[in-house]
Amino acid sequence: MIDITRPIACITGMGSAVPEGRLTNAELEKTLDTTDEWITDRTGIRCRHIARPDESMLSYTLKAAHQAMEQAGVTAADLDGIVFATVTPDRRLPSVACDLQAALGAKPAWAFDLVAACPGWVYALSVAEGMMATGLGETILVVGAEKLSMITDRDDRNTAILFGDGAGAGVLRRVRPGEDRGILATYLGADGDLADLLYIPGGGAADPFTEEVLRERRHYMKMAGREVFKAAVLAMSRSSDEAIRRAGMPPESIDLLVPHQANLRIIEAAAKHAGIPMSKVFCNLDRYGNTSSASIPLALTQAQAEGVLKPGMIVMLAAFGAGFTWGSVVLRW
Ligand code: ACO
Repeated sequence: MIDITRPIACITGMGSAVPEGRLTNAELEKTLDTTDEWITDRTGIRCRHIARPDESMLSYTLKAAHQAMEQAGVTAADLDGIVFATVTPDRRLPSVACDLQAALGAKPAWAFDLVAACPGWVYALSVAEGMMATGLGETILVVGAEKLSMITDRDDRNTAILFGDGAGAGVLRRVRPGEDRGILATYLGADGDLADLLYIPGGGAADPFTEEVLRERRHYMKMAGREVFKAAVLAMSRSSDEAIRRAGMPPESIDLLVPHQANLRIIEAAAKHAGIPMSKVFCNLDRYGNTSSASIPLALTQAQAEGVLKPGMIVMLAAFGAGFTWGSVVLRW
């Protein structure tokens, strides 16, 4: 690891948005062999927001982006770049980052999508910080947004209970001299040997779309839930340990942990491992379920709006997801 002087970049504005449609556990009970009690006990999720089939991801992402830019006090002309983390772009080509750039009127900011599943926003934050370090921008929009309903099999009780749609965005800008805030440490990792624990078998280049793919529902997510659970606790724990170590501070210094919102039991196990009490952990998965790369920016926006996240706090972000991928960031808010 090369030593660099941090902080280079800080988050100056956050925004989030979800589609209006809601799907409660009570509604899932009507179509699946499951119960509200089972879902709540095993996951902590009570409700998710689900976009209409004809509702684009860009439509709600745009609201999140505008909110983040307004809070940061920047206009589209100030943006040097857009990093957009997603596994469910509105279309395959071009990137949804370019669609967002056009919708915002942010020309000629560079723009691209990044695929890292649930830690996507944490990866994107690190990529944007790196872009800043190499002189490719002073103000960068970092987005995490998903329309997971597009890749979730409504007939599969393993996955249908977990996932929701949503968008989150943050404005990252270069730290000014004398400013005591920003990203203090990051840690990213992956293990491609675990790919088959959570994947979409069909519809890609290796198994292109055919009637058979659709009939066999191979265009939907397949998940080995129990194995993902174990790998997730391990990944979150290891990556939090490493980010705290790199930040050079004891776990007690963390004022707020904002984890990926996948399952309350995974969050509790990872927080316990890190030595962080649940009173310092922000959770909103009861309302939104797992929104993948939108989950952390959605939680940060809400934590800020509720007055839980305050300037000067030491915050840790920790996420894991399909790949397997994981990542943690420690920052001073
Ligand atoms: N409703 C009722 N019963 C269920 C349901 C359901 N929705 N799902 C499973 N069951 C049953 C099982 O059939 C099993 O029954 P059995 O004991 O008779 O065999 C029993 O409940 C226990 O099943 P487990 O799979 O062991 O349940 P578990 O406690 O592990 O919970 C869950 C399942 C919620 C999927 C959990 O494993 C989990 O959250 N895993 C992590 C998933 C995750 O976070 N995925 C996202 C990754 S991030 C990304 O990149 C998208």
